[in-house]
Amino acid sequence: MNGIDPDGLIAETLIGADAIQARVAAIGAEITADYADNPPLLVCVLKGAFVFLADLVRAIDLPVEVDFMAISSYGSGTQNSGIVRIVKDLEMTIEGRDVLVVEDIVDSGLTLSYLIKSLQARRPRSLAICALLTKPERREVEVPVRYVGFEIPNRFVIGYGLDFDERFRNLRAIGVIDEARLG
Ligand code: IMP
Repeated sequence: MNGIDPDGLIAETLIGADAIQARVAAIGAEITADYADNPPLLVCVLKGAFVFLADLVRAIDLPVEVDFMAISSYGSGTQNSGIVRIVKDLEMTIEGRDVLVVEDIVDSGLTLSYLIKSLQARRPRSLAICALLTKPERREVEVPVRYVGFEIPNRFVIGYGLDFDERFRNLRAIGVIDEARLG
């Protein structure tokens, strides 16, 4: 862990690598059962969900397809305004498809709420959300998340795709930043 965190910013591990792998395998099995007759198009929301997507697709035993989207939210500091811009759009048409959005974390819910509206307008046959993490305490708008990896407390987490200042995405576990060290 020192190589990834030379400055010792990570205070503790919240979810270990083995627990993540076990949960991803379980979600993959659920998706395999639920979508057996209609293999989904997985839409990965960049950048945070790329590690989760990579493991999740290999836990799904169906002929799935994947596509990627990147969004950026306008807002001052850590305050999320809910105004979201699509920075990279899908390459595929989703009309008539069974779409499963793969997200890293649902915090206020504002980003996903916007994204869902935008995707719904393209008339998919079905649209569902799979999020690795959710912070229920922070929710400002309700978003229907069909598959949840873990519910976590209101703390800033990093690792397994999630970043702090673009770092720590390559951590196998999910950890908590030591806020006292952040200046
Ligand atoms: P929301 O619109 O408030 O739900 O924000 C969702 C986005 O904020 C996620 O896709 C993440 O990119 C980012 N985010 C929220 N909480 C965290 C966290 O604890 N660590 C890293 N990124 C986070």
